[in-house]
Amino acid sequence: MYAVELPNWGDADLLELKERELPSFGPREVLVKIEAAGVNPVDYKVRGGNYSAAFNEGFPMVLGRDFSGQVLAVGADVTAFKVGDAVLGTLRMAPRLGCYATHIVVSDSAMALRPVSVDAVRAAALPVAGLTAWQALVEMAGVSAGQKVLVQAAAGGVGHLVVQLAKFLGAHVIATASPRNHDFLRELGADEVIDYTSVAFEDVVSDVDAVIDCVGGDVLDRSLHVLKAGGIAVTMAARPDPELAEKLGVRVVLIFVRPDAMQLQGLVDLVADGRLRVDIEKTFPLAQATQAHLLQETGHVRGKIVLIT
Ligand SMILES: NC(=O)c1ccc[n+]([C@@H]2O[C@H](COP(=O)([O-])OP(=O)(O)OC[C@H]3O[C@@H](n4cnc5c(N)ncnc54)[C@H](OP(=O)(O)O)[C@@H]3O)[C@@H](O)[C@H]2O)c1
Repeated sequence: MYAVELPNWGDADLLELKERELPSFGPREVLVKIEAAGVNPVDYKVRGGNYSAAFNEGFPMVLGRDFSGQVLAVGADVTAFKVGDAVLGTLRMAPRLGCYATHIVVSDSAMALRPVSVDAVRAAALPVAGLTAWQALVEMAGVSAGQKVLVQAAAGGVGHLVVQLAKFLGAHVIATASPRNHDFLRELGADEVIDYTSVAFEDVVSDVDAVIDCVGGDVLDRSLHVLKAGGIAVTMAARPDPELAEKLGVRVVLIFVRPDAMQLQGLVDLVADGRLRVDIEKTFPLAQATQAHLLQETGHVRGKIVLIT
């Protein structure tokens, strides 16, 4: 098999495709031939050493949490999957052997079946971004029909799915993005679009039930001011300031996405039904993981980046 190895914390140009032995697998595990691997911002943050305390199993490390592919072999106790199944899945936060590879061993609880109408690239782009969007909207914010939802960084990997899922839940959606993404966001169903490069959103938005924040920093703090009393901000990108929230009479929480096979199946079925669109900015061959990281690090990707094996 081949995998993109990271020999130490550092820059994108450290990533290198190398040959290695196939890993062995246990009774509840599945060996998957990866067709496509999703790239997430957390990958370059890990690469740079941001989470070095959690990733302490040593080098070389293989990054990547999201994959789609085909089942090559199953452990003795696996019943939900069989050889030849098309699947997608996501790994927990700190694997040493991630998805930037041609093969992976995963727990049978981390995967869903990929409907034939969903191609491998879109399937690989979905797990972390889709699960984060769903868990933020439904589990943390409890968004329901008629509510007003503000999505910060609505055109990004998570944001563009948040916009569509919030509409699916019946919310009124306000989205922030630079002008090049405004038509895109309207196509996805956003009711209002704000150009964050020329307008301070707090000057034009108020009485929001929920903010889903994919930016962090001062955008998160300013977002608390547009919530109605009792409203909630869910951030995925910064440590929140609970004192400010309390002073304003609102709530703020930080989400940590977790793998959930049932939720993932529900999301990929929505994609298959044409009710959820996964937008791909660019694909790269596995050997060009460096270029994929450099593009992701610009902070201005529309939708997702995917590596193809
Ligand atoms: N805690 C968790 O469990 C979890 C899970 C998933 C993601 N995350 C984190 O959440 C963040 C977002 O992830 P992602 O995959 O969606 O990132 P992403 O795809 O890299 O986001 C890129 C988007 O951000 C937009 N953007 C940049 N600055 C903006 C601003 N000030 N206001 C509005 N839009 C802005 C860009 O739009 P323009 O090009 O129009 O500027 C671009 O479309 C990352 O920090 C990621 O690490 C955390």
